[in-house]
Amino acid sequence: MIVPVELGDRRYPVYIDDHGSFTDRLKETGATAVVVVTNDTIAELYAEELAQWEQEIPGIVRVVVPDGEQYKSMETVMSVLDAMLEAKLDRKTVVVAFGGGVIGDMTGFASSLFLRGVRFVQVPTTLLAMVDSSVGGKTAVNHTMGKNLIGAFYQPIFVWIETRYLDTLPEREFLAGCGEVLKYGFIGGDTMFTFVENRFHDVIARDVDAVREVVRLSIQIKADVVAEDEFETGRRALLNFGHTFGHALEKMYNYSGILHGEGIFWGIRCAIELGRDGGFIPQELYSRYDRAQSKILYPELPTKPNVDSLFSYMFSDKKVEAGKLRFVVPTTIGESIVTSAVTKDQVIAVMNRVFA
Ligand SMILES: NC(=O)c1ccc[n+]([C@@H]2O[C@H](COP(=O)([O-])OP(=O)(O)OC[C@H]3O[C@@H](n4cnc5c(N)ncnc54)[C@H](O)[C@@H]3O)[C@@H](O)[C@H]2O)c1
Repeated sequence: MIVPVELGDRRYPVYIDDHGSFTDRLKETGATAVVVVTNDTIAELYAEELAQWEQEIPGIVRVVVPDGEQYKSMETVMSVLDAMLEAKLDRKTVVVAFGGGVIGDMTGFASSLFLRGVRFVQVPTTLLAMVDSSVGGKTAVNHTMGKNLIGAFYQPIFVWIETRYLDTLPEREFLAGCGEVLKYGFIGGDTMFTFVENRFHDVIARDVDAVREVVRLSIQIKADVVAEDEFETGRRALLNFGHTFGHALEKMYNYSGILHGEGIFWGIRCAIELGRDGGFIPQELYSRYDRAQSKILYPELPTKPNVDSLFSYMFSDKKVEAGKLRFVVPTTIGESIVTSAVTKDQVIAVMNRVFA
């Protein structure tokens, strides 16, 4: 199946399983050269696949970087650019980001810089990257001052999803990706909410059809939002549901012992409670969320969070505006708002309850 991301003359398809040959799609781009950027874990797991691509497209430049969020850095971007310069590539080069969100974000950013921008393709291999980071054109690297602080909006020319890549994904990474799925479930409208209510357990059990369907539904929501608000001046901010709390958790644990999607699980729980306490979420909707959430086993946290420090970490988020915390809260199924109209006491009370 194909989900289009409607961005005018930068419109691009997201292919989800069963769409013929990846290398044929690459050849159709008319690329003068193809660069595949991946990490050492994927290069080893998918050595045969890479060898096959290289056989089908002679001259592919393979760039393998170390695995890990700490390598989502300017240094790694420079090493990718060095390899491309050494290979004397031109502006008709197409770069393939083959990996999870780290490879996708870093490679997309490197592509935006090489010769002022060359085309790139996302081939996501984690659930998180399939449902979220590979679509929408947010590319970035981290800085010692914080995550994703250096980057660009830069869209791929297509996204190639093969859910079979998830077969090798470790359980914890898969479950973390389910955190972003839950996000779409709670803000994405009736079809997605119903799917999450009825089939989230099948997704967690990695039922092939359920996973494919949830990837499709998630991408459809993301594609619609991105088409409407590419540069996050409005509606796209709703995709940060659960992220104010989630990012603070990640930061509090210094990005160790907690995965992004795990933070989002807890962030969503807090945001729903805050929405109820603040009178944004009607009781009937709250009860539906509560029922759906009670079926989910929440990821373990490294230690019990210190609520006061968690609150102060919230202020270091990119999304703080004029010193005000901003929270996404659903108001009805498929409708959410971004609000600052909550008090510190309300936020603290929610965290005390959720992390009791
Ligand atoms: N651009 C966006 O819109 C956006 C959205 C959400 C998150 N992100 C970013 O995404 C990153 C997190 O992405 P992630 O969760 O994919 O993490 P990741 O890229 O670090 O991948 C997680 C781990 O799984 C391994 N892996 C990947 N695919 C595998 C496979 N098929 N089999 C076995 N192992 C595999 C990786 O090597 C890594 O060790 C963060 O940097 C976050 O900031 C970006």
